[in-house]
Amino acid sequence: MEQTTRHYPYQVLTAEEYEIAYRKSIDDPEAFWGDVASHFAWRRKWDNVVTSDFTVPRTEWFGNARLNIAENCLDRHLNTIGNRPAIIWEPNDPDTHYRSLTYKELYKKVCQFSYVLRNNGVKKGDRVCIYMGMIPELAVAMLACARIGAVHTVIFGGFSAQSIADRLQDAKAEIIVTADGAYRGPKSIPLKDVIDDALPVCPFVKRVIVCTHLRNPVSMIKGRDVWWEDEIKKVETQGWKHYAAEEMDAEDPLFILYTSGSTGKPKGVVHSTAGYMVYTCYSFVNVFNYQPGDVFFCTADMGWITGHSYLLYGALLSGATSLMYEGIPTWPDAGRMWNIVDKHKVNILYTAPTALRSLMSFGREPLADKDLSSLKVLGTVGEPINDEAWQWYYKEIGKERCPIVDTWWQTETGGIMISNMAGITPAKPTYATLPMPGVELVLVNEKGHVLPGNDVSGILCIRSAWPSLLRTTYNDHEKYYRNYFAPYPGMYFTGDGAYRDENGLYRITGRIDDVLNVSGHRIGSAEVENAINMHTGVTESAVVGYPHEIKGEGIYAYVVYEKPVTDADLIRRDILQTVSRVIGPIARPDKVQFVSALPKTRSGKIMRRILRKIAESDTTNLGDLTTLTDPTIVDELTAGRIE
Ligand code: WTA
Repeated sequence: MEQTTRHYPYQVLTAEEYEIAYRKSIDDPEAFWGDVASHFAWRRKWDNVVTSDFTVPRTEWFGNARLNIAENCLDRHLNTIGNRPAIIWEPNDPDTHYRSLTYKELYKKVCQFSYVLRNNGVKKGDRVCIYMGMIPELAVAMLACARIGAVHTVIFGGFSAQSIADRLQDAKAEIIVTADGAYRGPKSIPLKDVIDDALPVCPFVKRVIVCTHLRNPVSMIKGRDVWWEDEIKKVETQGWKHYAAEEMDAEDPLFILYTSGSTGKPKGVVHSTAGYMVYTCYSFVNVFNYQPGDVFFCTADMGWITGHSYLLYGALLSGATSLMYEGIPTWPDAGRMWNIVDKHKVNILYTAPTALRSLMSFGREPLADKDLSSLKVLGTVGEPINDEAWQWYYKEIGKERCPIVDTWWQTETGGIMISNMAGITPAKPTYATLPMPGVELVLVNEKGHVLPGNDVSGILCIRSAWPSLLRTTYNDHEKYYRNYFAPYPGMYFTGDGAYRDENGLYRITGRIDDVLNVSGHRIGSAEVENAINMHTGVTESAVVGYPHEIKGEGIYAYVVYEKPVTDADLIRRDILQTVSRVIGPIARPDKVQFVSALPKTRSGKIMRRILRKIAESDTTNLGDLTTLTDPTIVDELTAGRIE
């Protein structure tokens, strides 16, 4: 890797500096984060850096400070890098022209849309639901919410009307920003139609702002639905005006992002303003070893936390050029991502192992005529990366000159928690490696005893409070406590298992709860079961994950049907349709096995361990079956296993 220079006072340049920063962050978090925070724009400085008690649980960073994060993303940069591209947008269709918005241009668009939101009745603290494809207007809408102090809740385009309705109801969002549709490779998604299907059960929604992108026919209801472009024109007729950013409290909520847990319903993860700002920027600069002028290409959708924290906030807070891309990696061919890297001279590429595994399977041909020499740093996120994919990424994409950062984190953590720092601290294939400054990791056993020493596996917990920790789950602080702080008192429980090697490097071994990770998307098995159980004729079901070559994990469903199944294929397809309707296409099981009963203990608990083993085709050692009410069911399940 080329020599790097410190462009930010808090940029770590050597392994020794990492050690020093880490020690200081744990020994004296006030001094450490106070220093980092001093490099942002504040309307009022904090009284104290952090107060946190995981037993309450309550965490506050930069108490009583006042600021606006959108101002820190945009206005703060106008005099220095105002003409640098903030967002480069690459459309789905490679023959359509790309768009580039400088910091000045983005700032102007955000100010205009802030007026649009205000003209449509949005006030500080209101929740605004954003359901759009990957177009620059999505970033504009998010930043405008932040500018006026509204709380955005972005919903991924792969979720169904029913899922949207659930989230709208939970967040009580009265305003929706959407588009007429989104392109996704060869397909398009009629976003406004999906919203229309959600609205009959959400009568509290007062306004839907619709951005045109496909310009396909959409229904526009008088008094409720307005066009984005018309609203902008109204603002434009009054001439250009700066929109004064709302002064927010450090702990005011910035956004809600719904994510799956082990219960049947997604939780609304709430992130607050100042801590999230400081941490996403700090981690962006240090994990990716960002150098001014670098083009950062994150392939995640904005509907997930990776899109929020690094495609948008972390990148813009650092003054980076963020490349936003609308399509999918395999359309029109498997060279699409490499084309984009070549065309825009991408320096940092951040993607998911799933994408790499799928692109690997196309061999070298899609890479043949691509110049990837601009790449300096490669990153992965969302799921464990297997050695083969890691090696391929390193050799074929990075040509053995680009460090790979394997970044472990979660929607709840807001930013990257475990990762090497590119070119600074060592990488180890399949290992996320070292905790970031501020993050004190512990491994515990099932009883909650801390496991000391190295070469040990356990449940991953975090003992320190870091700035971008989720502050609550929306409308349900008790759930926040129950999910994250009750399991192991005094610690944040991650839900993941990990191994610490002989040198103290961490390798994530995967979820220990019933959360599936399919193509890097988090899906709760209970959610999928609820959806399957809604299907007519289904008595009950159990869903487990199994290793899948491309997706990482596939979804295997065992379904008890009330009548003998005569046409399994047809019923299976109907069930998949129900799952698509209830959750969205991303939750469709890969395999459905009809069974006469589920393996249960006498207390009625489903023995998922057995179901997992059968799904994995590991039927030689199913363990103790004597606690089952009916051990013979296991033979039926094994015999009927779907290949
Ligand atoms: C998994 C995504 C292994 C993990 C940012 C975690 C990972 C869940 C990695 C969170 C990684 C994320 N290696 N596993 N580098 N990164 N995970 O909330 O199981 O969508 O708990 O956040 O993804 O998924 P989420």
